Amino acid sequence: MSYAIRAEGLVKRYGDMVALNGVDLEVPVGRVVGVLGPNGAGKTTTVRILATLMRPDGGHATVGGYDVVKDPVRVRSLIGLTGQYASVDESLSGSENLVLLGRLLNLSTRQAKARAAELLERFELTDAAARPIATFSGGMRRRLDLAASLVGRPQVLYLDEPTTGLDPHTRNEVWDVVRGLVADGSTVLLTTQYLEEADQLADRITVIDQGRVVAEGRPGELKRRVGGQILHVRPTLPGDLDAVSRILTELTGHTPDRDENTGLLTVPAVDSMLVSALVRRLDAAGITADEVGLRLPSLDEVFLALTRQNIVAERNVA
Ligand SMILES: Nc1ncnc2c1ncn2[C@@H]1O[C@H](COP(=O)(O)OP(=O)(O)O)[C@@H](O)[C@H]1O
Ligand SMILES: [Mg+2]
Repeated sequence: MSYAIRAEGLVKRYGDMVALNGVDLEVPVGRVVGVLGPNGAGKTTTVRILATLMRPDGGHATVGGYDVVKDPVRVRSLIGLTGQYASVDESLSGSENLVLLGRLLNLSTRQAKARAAELLERFELTDAAARPIATFSGGMRRRLDLAASLVGRPQVLYLDEPTTGLDPHTRNEVWDVVRGLVADGSTVLLTTQYLEEADQLADRITVIDQGRVVAEGRPGELKRRVGGQILHVRPTLPGDLDAVSRILTELTGHTPDRDENTGLLTVPAVDSMLVSALVRRLDAAGITADEVGLRLPSLDEVFLALTRQNIVAERNVA
């Protein structure tokens, strides 16, 4: 497998504060890797190091095979960066911003205009191209910011919390844009605080917390790693909830969670034979169910479990 980004043991301190404490990260060519972590986890610090905007205090990293510290100019020629805040000039129009960037990247005026027109069309900004950015909606700004990062045809795109602060509709627009980029074969490093976003967009996820990697894998693997599945049952008659709840407790040793609104009982399931055992018991009791099934835990449940495990591990070391 060929890697667009490889980082090993990245360390970064701000004074006494250890922002990164040995972060490893790999991004295969043509894939989206999500770096998932809460506020202050070290996501932006990682991106800034990989974008050559900041030197690490320890560890090393390459982008496209070039070392971020020894070959920053080469690395910069490969990457596009979109931050949480739009990096465009408010007083210029959308089109002027993109042409200016193209000129800064040494395109001729004609090339810069052609590239700007192509990107405006791709991000559905053609109608707004001549308007000053100050009049753009949040979603239009974010799209222009993404377009801006693509002027130089980067091989690797860094998206640092591209949807933080966006309303759900605008967030969906950005997701569509990212999916489009990936369909075109771009390599994307995406940071996010949203499990759903990582699950939706990323092929692999690196979970970081307090400057450390707490888990790495495919979304499905991470869900499995947290252990087991969730069994859910919805009795046909709400009057059977108590009886089914008792059966589940006997079978699993756990009292199931009960949602009165949906009439659903859920309980952790370690044993996949549980479903057939349950069906036999329901049958014997003359109880019918509209829904019986196993599901993997949500990424939210996974993240909570992973960061809790990390805290427990640290306490054990201390
Ligand atoms: N310039 C800075 N000076 C001091 N501390 C900083 C600086 N930038 C970030 N930090 C701290 O480093 C940690 C990681 O920050 P950051 O990489 O921005 O996290 P994230 O992007 O995941 O929210 C946080 O605790 C943050 O407060
Ligand atoms: Mg950040």
